[in-house]
Amino acid sequence: MDSKTEAYHSGHPAATLPDGDAGNFCALQIDGVDTQAKAGERLIDALNRDAIARGRKEVPQVCYHPHLGPIQTCDTCMVEIDGKLSRACGAVVTPGMKVVTGSAAAMAAQHEAFDRILGNHLLYCTVCDNNNQNCTVHNTTALLNIEHQKYPYKEKPYQKDMSNPFYRYDPDQCILCGRCVEACQNVQVNETLSIRWEDEHPRVLWDGGHEIGGSSCVSCGHCVTVCPCNALMEKSMLGHAGYFTKLPADALTGMIDVVKAIEPEIGYGPILQLSETEAAMRNARVKRTKTVCTYCGVGCSFDIWTKDRHILKVEPGQGAANNISTCVKGKFGWDYVNSEDRLETPLIRDGDSFREASWEEALELVGRRLTEIRTQHGPDALGFISSSKCTNEESYLMQKLARAVVGTNNIDNCSRYCQSPATQGLFRTVGYGGDSGSISDIAQSGLVMIVGSNTAEAHPVLATRVKRAHKLNGQKLIVADIREHEMARRADIFFRPNPSTDAVWLSALSRYILDNGLARTGFLAQWVNGLDEYRKSLEPFTLEYAAEVCGLTVELLKQVAEEFAAAKSACILWAMGVTQHCGGSDTSTAISNLLLVTGNYMRPGTGAYPLRGHNNVQGASDFGSMPAYFPGYDKVDDPEARERYERGWNVKLPTRKGLDNHEMVEAIHAGSLKGMYLVGEDMYSADSNANFVGDAFSKLDFFVVQDCFFSLTCRYADVVLPASPSLEKEGTFTSTERRIQRLYQVMEPLGESRPDWEIIQDVANKLYAGWNYAHPADIMHESAALAPMFAGVTYDRLAGYKTLQWPVAVDGTDTPLLYTEKFHFPDGKARLYPLKWIEPCEQAGAEFDVHLNNGRMLEHFHEGNMTYRVPGIHAETPEGFMEISPAMAEERGLVTGQWVDVASRHGELRTQVVVTDRVHAKQVYMPLNRPKHPVNLLTGNNTDRATHTPAYKETAVKMKTLPWKGKDPLPPLNFRHGHPTPQRGVEVERKWKRTDYRAPGNGLVQIQTGQQKG
Ligand code: SF4
Ligand code: SF4
Ligand code: SF4
Ligand code: FES
Repeated sequence: MDSKTEAYHSGHPAATLPDGDAGNFCALQIDGVDTQAKAGERLIDALNRDAIARGRKEVPQVCYHPHLGPIQTCDTCMVEIDGKLSRACGAVVTPGMKVVTGSAAAMAAQHEAFDRILGNHLLYCTVCDNNNQNCTVHNTTALLNIEHQKYPYKEKPYQKDMSNPFYRYDPDQCILCGRCVEACQNVQVNETLSIRWEDEHPRVLWDGGHEIGGSSCVSCGHCVTVCPCNALMEKSMLGHAGYFTKLPADALTGMIDVVKAIEPEIGYGPILQLSETEAAMRNARVKRTKTVCTYCGVGCSFDIWTKDRHILKVEPGQGAANNISTCVKGKFGWDYVNSEDRLETPLIRDGDSFREASWEEALELVGRRLTEIRTQHGPDALGFISSSKCTNEESYLMQKLARAVVGTNNIDNCSRYCQSPATQGLFRTVGYGGDSGSISDIAQSGLVMIVGSNTAEAHPVLATRVKRAHKLNGQKLIVADIREHEMARRADIFFRPNPSTDAVWLSALSRYILDNGLARTGFLAQWVNGLDEYRKSLEPFTLEYAAEVCGLTVELLKQVAEEFAAAKSACILWAMGVTQHCGGSDTSTAISNLLLVTGNYMRPGTGAYPLRGHNNVQGASDFGSMPAYFPGYDKVDDPEARERYERGWNVKLPTRKGLDNHEMVEAIHAGSLKGMYLVGEDMYSADSNANFVGDAFSKLDFFVVQDCFFSLTCRYADVVLPASPSLEKEGTFTSTERRIQRLYQVMEPLGESRPDWEIIQDVANKLYAGWNYAHPADIMHESAALAPMFAGVTYDRLAGYKTLQWPVAVDGTDTPLLYTEKFHFPDGKARLYPLKWIEPCEQAGAEFDVHLNNGRMLEHFHEGNMTYRVPGIHAETPEGFMEISPAMAEERGLVTGQWVDVASRHGELRTQVVVTDRVHAKQVYMPLNRPKHPVNLLTGNNTDRATHTPAYKETAVKMKTLPWKGKDPLPPLNFRHGHPTPQRGVEVERKWKRTDYRAPGNGLVQIQTGQQKG
C-alpha cells in the first residue's frame, strides 16, 4: 500500500510483555505442551501469547486489561496451576509450572463466574451502541458458547447517571469488574471512583456517592475507555453507533423484551448471530482513523471513530506516549471541528468589514501585495509566523517560503512565547534543545522535581505517570511553585519561592551539593567542562542568601539539596512558570547545571524535561520556523549549513539571523516591517501586551492571517484564509519527548477550508516558487534529506502507531534517551554555565501591589479558541475568572463571584474572583483562556534577556472592587468542587470478604492483589 495515501485502520492491541525486565525466559507447560515464557511475567499474558501462536481460543478474561494489570474481580480466567484452580491474571510465571486451561474443573469455574456476570448485565446486543465487535462481555458470551442464562438478570435499585456532559453510567449494565476504578485510582490517579463492596447492591461510586457532574471527575475518559461493556459509554455514541439504537425508549424496551422472551427457547446462539451481523454492518459505515492530539505537547495518539462528520468516540490504546490515557480535551474535546464558527471561505477586508472571496482572488491579492512590499522595501520588510498547532511539514514550508522564496530569515513560531528559554538553557549546557529522555524515564525515576509547571492541568497525561509512580512505586516528588496546584498537594516537599527567584535557590542547591561532597565527582570529571569557573560563579549563592531572596528557610533548602543529591535517579520537569520571566533562560540553565552536578544525565530515569506546551511546539522549531536556525537547528550563519540548503533549494539564502516574534512587533511600530503572513496563531491573545500588539497589526500595510476561526487577531487582517484543523489533514507532530508521530485524515476539509500546507504552497507559487508537493510525505522526504537530525525519518517508518524520537539516523535508529554516549558538543562533554541572578523586571510595589500569575487550566486550552467551541467544556467552565487568596479576600472583603477591575501599567480588564487557597497572600492567578478579554491585556513588554520570550509572569496589577457580585464563575458541574476518595485500586479483597461470595470451583487459591504495579 502506498504509504502516503493509505487509510490507517488499527486493530486490537495484542497482549503486551510485562513492564520492564521481568526476568529470563523459563520453561513451563501449557495444556500439556512445553513452552517458554518470562519468569515473573503475568501468566495471563503468557497464555494469551500462547493462544495466538497456537491458534487456540483464549482463556476468558473479563476484568483483565493489559494496561491495568490484575484486578481479580471477575473470576472468569480460572485455570489449573499445578493441579489447583487459580486466577490466571493474578498468577505469575514460575519455572516448571504446569497450566491446564481447559480441564473440566477450570471450565466449570469459568462458566460459573461468567454466569454470575450475566446476572448483572442484560444482553441486548443488537440494539446496543457498544455492539462493535469489541465488547468484552459479548465476545466472552460467544467464547464460552453461552446458550442460556443460569442466573436471571436482576435490575439494581439505581438510576442511570447522565449528569456528566460527556459520558453516562448505567448501573443496571455494570458488571462490577472494577476496571474503571483501577484506571481512575491507579492509572489516571484522579481517585474519584470506588466500589463499596460491603453494600447490599454494590455499584461504582463517584466521590463515594455523588452524582458524576460536580464530583471530582475530570472527564479524562480512562474509565469509559476500559469499561468492558456499555455501563460507561460516551454520550456521542448513544443513539448513533448502531442501526437500531436511535429507536425511542419504548420501542427499544419492546425489542429487548422480545429477546428475553425467546432466549429460553432458542438460546443465545441465533441471537448473537443476529447482533454480529448488525455489528458487521455498522462497522462498514464507521471509520476508525489514527490521529495525534492537537492540544498539549504530551503527544497522545488514538483512533477517532467517525460516521461521516459525526465523531462517535475517541479510542486510545496503542499510543506510545499514552496507551489507554487521555485528558478531557483529547477524549472529548473535538466538537470545535464541526463548529458553526469555522471559517469556510477566504475573506478580504472591505473597509471596516470583510467580504467573502474566492480562493483565486484571495491568493492573487496575497501574492501581489507580498511581491509589491518585497520589491519596494526589500525582503526583510516581510515577516512570517508559523504555528505550533500546525504540522512539521507546514513549519518546514513556512520557513522555506520565508527564506528561499522571499529571502528573509524573519520567521518564528509561538515557541517564542514559552519554550525558547528552556531550549536556550539546554543549548548552553548539554547541546540538544529537547527533553533528554522519554516519559517512561520520568515514570521510572527515583525522584521527580517539578518547577513552575502545573503539570496535572497543562500536561495531564504525563502527570498521571508521575502521580502513579509516586502513589504506587515510592517515587519522591518535590514541587516548587508559587501556586499550590494538584502536584504541589501531592508532593513530599512543596515550597513557594518568591516570584522570579528560582535561579537563586537552584544555584544554591548546586553550591551546597558541591561544597558538602554530595556531587557526582566522577561524572563531572569524565563528562563535564567548566567546573572551576562555575564554582566561582556560585560564590554568592549560599543557602542563607537563597533563603532570604526566595523567602524560604535554610533547613528546607538543605533538605531539598540532600534528597535531590541522594536520589538514585532524578528528573526535573519545568514549564512556563520558569521560562516566562526576564531570567527564563538563566533559570532553565540553572536547572540543567544542577542535573549535571548530581550526575543526572546519560542514564535511564534521569534528565531535563522542559514540558512543551502545544502539540507541535517542539516540531515547529525543530523544522526551522526560527529566525536563527534551519531545520534540525543548523544555524543560518553557519556557511556549511547554508550552502547545503542553497544547494537543496537552488537559491541564494540570507546570511543574517532574522527577527523573532517580539522583534517583528517592534519593527512594525518602528516602520521597517510592512507586511506579515501569520499562520494558525491568535497572536493578539497569545503575545504579551495585547494592546501594543494590536496597535502594531493595525499599522501593517498588508496582513494575512490563516486560521480555522475568526480569532481576535483576524480583526486586523487584510486577508483571512480558512485553514483545516488536524483532523482534516495529514502530516506529523513532534511531542515533548521528541517523538515524531503521524496523523491521518479523519474527515474532509469543511467547506472551502484547506490544509495549511496546501495554502502555503499556493502562496509560495503566487510568488513564483514553482513548488509541487503532492503530499506531506514529499515535504518530510525533502526535510530528511537536508537536516541530519531527521536523516532517517520516513512516512513508512512512522506508519500507523509507529514513532521515531529524534535524532534519527539514516538507517532509522532513533534516540529515546539522549546523551547515552556523549553530550551534543564537539568534544562530547557537557558544559556547566556560570550565572548571575538579576532581579525581576517588574515586581509588585506601592501602587501596583498585587503579583499577577497566569497560565493554563485543564479543560480549556490556551486562549480557548478551540475549547470554548466544545459545548461540554463550555458547560463546565464557561467564564474566565481570577483566583485570590483567602487572606486577600478577607483583607478586601471579597467573596467568590465578586466583580473586580484589574489594571496593570499596560492595560485593564474586568473579571470575577474565585477565593481559593491555591494562591497565596497578594498573588493572584488568572487562567489564560478568557473569551474576548485575554489576560495579555495586562502583561507588558519585558522579555527574557536571551530569547525575547515575554515575561508574562512578571506583571504587577492593582485591583478595584466593583459594586456587582455574581454567581461562582465555576458552576456546580465543575470538578474543582469535588472530593476525591483515594484508595489503592479496586480493593478486591473486600469483595472476597462478603459473606455471599464464594470463589467459583473448588480448591481456589486466593491470590492477593498488589503485584506488578510498575
Ligand atoms: S454491552 Fe456488549 S454484551 Fe452488553 S448488550 Fe452491549 S454489546 Fe451486548
Ligand atoms: S476522572 Fe472521571 S473520567 Fe477520569 S477515570 Fe475518573 S471517573 Fe473516569
Ligand atoms: S462501569 Fe466500571 S465496574 Fe462497571 S462494568 Fe464498566 S468498568 Fe466494570
Ligand atoms: S480476568 Fe478477571 S479475575 Fe482474572
